[in-house]
Amino acid sequence: MKIGVLTGGGDCPGLNAVIRAIVRKACDVKGDQVFGFYDAWDGVLEQRYIELTTKDVRGILPRGGTILGTRRGSPFDTNDGVEKCKKTFKDLSLDALIVIGGNGSLTVASMLHQKHGLPIIGVPKTIDNDVVGTDATFGFQTAVQIATDAIDRLHTTAESHDRVIVVEVMGRDAGWIALQAGIAGGATAIVVPEVPFDIDELSQIVRKRHDRGRYASVVVVAEGAKPKPNTMKIPERKLDVYGHEKLGDIAHAIAPEISSRTGFETRVVQLGYIQRGGTPTSYDRVLSTRFGLAAVDAVHNKKFGQMVVLRAGQIETTDMSVTANQTRTIDLKLFADVAATFFG
Ligand code: F6P
Repeated sequence: MKIGVLTGGGDCPGLNAVIRAIVRKACDVKGDQVFGFYDAWDGVLEQRYIELTTKDVRGILPRGGTILGTRRGSPFDTNDGVEKCKKTFKDLSLDALIVIGGNGSLTVASMLHQKHGLPIIGVPKTIDNDVVGTDATFGFQTAVQIATDAIDRLHTTAESHDRVIVVEVMGRDAGWIALQAGIAGGATAIVVPEVPFDIDELSQIVRKRHDRGRYASVVVVAEGAKPKPNTMKIPERKLDVYGHEKLGDIAHAIAPEISSRTGFETRVVQLGYIQRGGTPTSYDRVLSTRFGLAAVDAVHNKKFGQMVVLRAGQIETTDMSVTANQTRTIDLKLFADVAATFFG
């Protein structure tokens, strides 16, 4: 078979491990040809690709990022995008395309399959862990580990200076990284997009801790966190070229509000792209490899319109359309339990 592969959306650790597994299984075991498209859908529309063989994927298992490059955007952004996509399938005699992406890329892939009949298999990825239908995405565990290591380090400097450090982690619509890294790092409080926060309550948690003789705090905030209506102003957000709100200001908005309510010195740390870069953890390398192997099986079994997923430890497939405009949010029961036990 002739199989295309692309990586779309924000990069994440483990993408190269998926590409490697696809190439090794498709070329070495099944006798397929694999074409890697550069820069996500741009490569499909512009027919920029490389034929990938085993030698091209040597040494990439532990490497962060993606050897194919990635972009946001989709064939639906231009009038002739879908036609160009179809032409590439025809010109290369592609039997299938494997799309490794997050909610956006998988939604696009699902539409191309459902509305235009293109034979596509999905592989869910994102450090945000917010794809519906799978118990986990690769890249997430690496991001949590990076954030936890950072929180561990911040505790000691916060303690030395009696400061409150507000750490902002990624998580646009779901607070998975904040919740898990916050639990693992022993945060004073965790703020997630799913549960709008009250700045007075948050400041009170920090004050109560100081009253107990703990003069330093680390507050972990997801970038998509929102205050309860009419409790605190946050700056008006601009949109990027894809219509997404430009985030990255919430910790800077929260820190002075805590300071003015408590009188404690605050500092802000934004972990930003450090969470997305670099080598994947062993867990993510294994999950990526399992997804890549299963994606080739899904192609050969013609399970088009499906994506590979992890469920109760097993790799299965499910309809890609479950991702459309959906976000897999955190376990609110766990959040409530953690908050009741550890915050304040
Ligand atoms: O990949 C998801 C994510 O990491 C979000 O948490 C974050 O808001 C977004 O990507 C930022 O991506 P970029 O700046 O690359 O568009």
